[in-house]
Amino acid sequence: MSKIKYFSEDLNIQNKTVILRLDLNVPIIEKKIQDESRIKSCLPFLKELIYRKAKIIIISHLGRPQGERNNELSLTPVYKFLKESLKTNVFFFMGDINDSIKDKFSYLKEGEIILLENIRFFKEENDNDENFAKKLASLGDIYVNDAFSCSHRKQASIHKITKYIKNSYAGPLFKKEVDSINSIIQNKRKPVTCIIGGSKVSTKINVIYNLIKNVDNIIIVGAMANNFLKFKGLEIGKSLIEKNSSNIVDDIYIKAKKYNCNISIPEDFNVSTDFSGDGKIKGQGTITKEEMILDIGPKTIENIKDIIEKSNTVLWNGPAGYFENEDFSKGTVSIAKKISENTTNKSLISILGGGDTISAVKKSKDKFNFTHLSTAGGAFLEFLEGKDLPGLSVLK
Ligand code: 3PG
Repeated sequence: MSKIKYFSEDLNIQNKTVILRLDLNVPIIEKKIQDESRIKSCLPFLKELIYRKAKIIIISHLGRPQGERNNELSLTPVYKFLKESLKTNVFFFMGDINDSIKDKFSYLKEGEIILLENIRFFKEENDNDENFAKKLASLGDIYVNDAFSCSHRKQASIHKITKYIKNSYAGPLFKKEVDSINSIIQNKRKPVTCIIGGSKVSTKINVIYNLIKNVDNIIIVGAMANNFLKFKGLEIGKSLIEKNSSNIVDDIYIKAKKYNCNISIPEDFNVSTDFSGDGKIKGQGTITKEEMILDIGPKTIENIKDIIEKSNTVLWNGPAGYFENEDFSKGTVSIAKKISENTTNKSLISILGGGDTISAVKKSKDKFNFTHLSTAGGAFLEFLEGKDLPGLSVLK
């Protein structure tokens, strides 16, 4: 198997322009960053590039603006955070990415940074557009992808850009993720349990199908579970649901039976009629049309704790509920506590992945201990499945 090309200490980058793809996709509400972990983890490498006198152009996305400008998904708060955290000039570019873009950046000096506005404001990014990738590549001499968490996306700043820039490498955070996940895959001990939640259902539902062969238990929580409840004919009210998911859910159950993988879905819930409500505990089949499921209930929490207790490896991606409202964070926090306790006391191998999962865990007052915290969500799951990630294979 060919190896990933990593950015090395020996490269002479002085006065060279480094295009750096980062994952600065952080939760922002009313222009305030809710969790800075992802940005903070990028700072050491940025400081190294500044110290080594590179000119730095940062590309990142934020949310899923579908190729349109959207003020709520602007990287402005991230730009301000970078400006405050780094002792150099940091500029913000909000213009178009056209043929004259390179000339516009000629003011950039050694050790300085330009952050581009949300790259997904451009439709061409999602389309992995050839010309767009060429224009992005024309900005620099070296390309570094330090966004492992985005490398499952076949998008211009992750994938096609590498066609036009010969010196393309994976960065140190990327390396750390790949090494840690690989080491866990190699050393994992059975029974293996995978907990999957969160709201990015379309990204993950196929992953569940592909994971079945490799794990003993799959625990479905969060919005993902709504599809399974609906499949069983249970009322889920106004809860978030993925359209046309019944075929894949059916396939998941058939495959799970074949490979003896236990699929567990919630049996009780914390529900409300709106996201700011207080919550009411309800069992399966008792939810009204006006209510929505915002967390798992106490019986489900106990079941999950029991499965964790019997597991030797736990992989977790996606919160169990709408943790942004503390009233609905109990499920997520209880899972985190149990995994953390068993990691400390029973040598459980634990790996947590995904921006939301990390935000949820960091938001809690408790201190947790896990074998590895991965900033990647979908990419982490696809890597576990054994898929060749598009953004990774182009760096080999
Ligand atoms: C993530 O949050 O997992 C990454 O930033 C990728 O985001 P995406 O699922 O919108 O591509």
